[in-house]
Amino acid sequence: MKIAVLGTGYVGLVSGACFSAWGHEVTGVDIDRARVDRLNAGDIPIFEPGLAECVLACREAGRLAFTTDLALALKDVDIVFIAVGTPAGQHDGEADLSYVFEAGRQIARTLRGPAVVVTKSTVPVGTAERLEAVMRDAAPSGEFVVASNPEFLREGSALEDFNRPDRVVIGCEDRWAGGLLEALYAPLAAEGIRIVTTGRRSAELIKYAANAFLATKIAFINEMADLCERVNANVEDIALGMGLDRRIGADFLKAGPGYGGSCFPKDTVALLRTAQDSGVTLRLVEQTIAANTARKHTLARRLASLLGGTLRGKHIAVLGLTFKAETDDMRDAPAQTLIRCALEAGATVSAYDPAGMDNARQVLPEAHFAADPIECATGADALVIMTDWASFRTLDLARVGEVMRRRAIMDLRGLYDVDLLVKQYRFTVDRVGAPLRSPERASRITLNAHARRQSGALPVHNGFRNLETSDTAPALPGGSIPREEFVNDQSQII
Ligand SMILES: NC(=O)c1ccc[n+]([C@@H]2O[C@H](COP(=O)([O-])OP(=O)(O)OC[C@H]3O[C@@H](n4cnc5c(N)ncnc54)[C@H](O)[C@@H]3O)[C@@H](O)[C@H]2O)c1
Repeated sequence: MKIAVLGTGYVGLVSGACFSAWGHEVTGVDIDRARVDRLNAGDIPIFEPGLAECVLACREAGRLAFTTDLALALKDVDIVFIAVGTPAGQHDGEADLSYVFEAGRQIARTLRGPAVVVTKSTVPVGTAERLEAVMRDAAPSGEFVVASNPEFLREGSALEDFNRPDRVVIGCEDRWAGGLLEALYAPLAAEGIRIVTTGRRSAELIKYAANAFLATKIAFINEMADLCERVNANVEDIALGMGLDRRIGADFLKAGPGYGGSCFPKDTVALLRTAQDSGVTLRLVEQTIAANTARKHTLARRLASLLGGTLRGKHIAVLGLTFKAETDDMRDAPAQTLIRCALEAGATVSAYDPAGMDNARQVLPEAHFAADPIECATGADALVIMTDWASFRTLDLARVGEVMRRRAIMDLRGLYDVDLLVKQYRFTVDRVGAPLRSPERASRITLNAHARRQSGALPVHNGFRNLETSDTAPALPGGSIPREEFVNDQSQII
């Protein structure tokens, strides 16, 4: 088939390259000329494992090209995918569909034969109908059908996800267009991958429902992590014990600094907006968003607690900046919130990421960027692990301890063996979902704090101590005990 993909970002570039690798003739179109020039020079503008090799092989085979010339890309085309951005809009988090509609208008005016136009971008329910109307307006006699084919790939494993998805969702009411899309995905169906064919509205909503559910799972395990820290339990054991239950499943039960990235934050808010517009209340989604926002804003307070209650004058080393490992994507990364709050609280920050440095420099101009993890840790009062890049697992921890001013680690991804850090390298360790540990008497203090709280000597309250951080975290709901109070007990012995 002849395919055009509008947008050569994370989704468009991966989709185009994979379709081409399946044997189709693909043209990637972008309005960003610099991006297209880079792609045509063999320079892949995003970090995604295996993508560069795939793009280069398909280009060499003559089945993949990039252009800014839409007419060239749409000549004799069978299927046109729209994979442009749908960022959060200015108005109450509603998805900004201006790029989608503009792409639709351009396609309608340019198409010269029958084609299926497919939204791969994540778009709110009803968008296919609106897009069709926009396109019909631009070209009343145009021969096109609009279908929906939401994309579920994850950055960091995008090629694997595209080539071996859990399912493919096709939203289409037109038999000819549906048949064309089913033929496109036939190689996956032949491998036993389920093709879910629905109406366009359901297809659009499946994507948001899936993302909101996954976000909720993350928010849930993060709340369990908070509880584990208080009751001397380990969230990884909780996740293991829960995840082995097939009704629950093990994925997305990894406690951390809160979800970020280009999808969950904007998609949960956009879903809420759709529900509000329809007069429906989605309480779980509301609470997920609130819990995750609060979590990201408490990171700097947590760090201050680890360092005795203040970040003023402290030097913080942050390892991992992107919203997760194996990507260079900084969109809504929790590291952005932590670093900004730490800087506002009077700390200096040194940061390092294996792939995201260029993007991080653009959004965090105030931070100092180190050339490697050891330079990053040098002189630091605390080292914060924000993302679980594999290379951080093999850090020379003895060397890290030597170059730091104080041996304190806030491990927000549960990357390290706490026993090893505490006993062998003499770090004080604040690990997500586990009690604070220090080389001295962390476990005894933990129990003492618990006993004092039980006896009423330590207050339990709903809110945060007035630590010297300037962020304005919302109070935790439901009478939760803030970890800061607990950590401050520990920090007496740091
Ligand atoms: N990033 C992900 O992991 C992921 C996963 C699933 C779904 N999605 C969804 O896919 C969509 C795209 O996301 P992304 O991360 O690839 O975005 P992105 O920002 O990386 O890329 C979008 C690209 O579209 C280009 N563009 C904008 N208007 C255009 C036009 N009229 N013609 C041609 N190109 C145009 C931009 O220049 C940009 O290069 C979004 O709706 C997103 O929610 C993203």
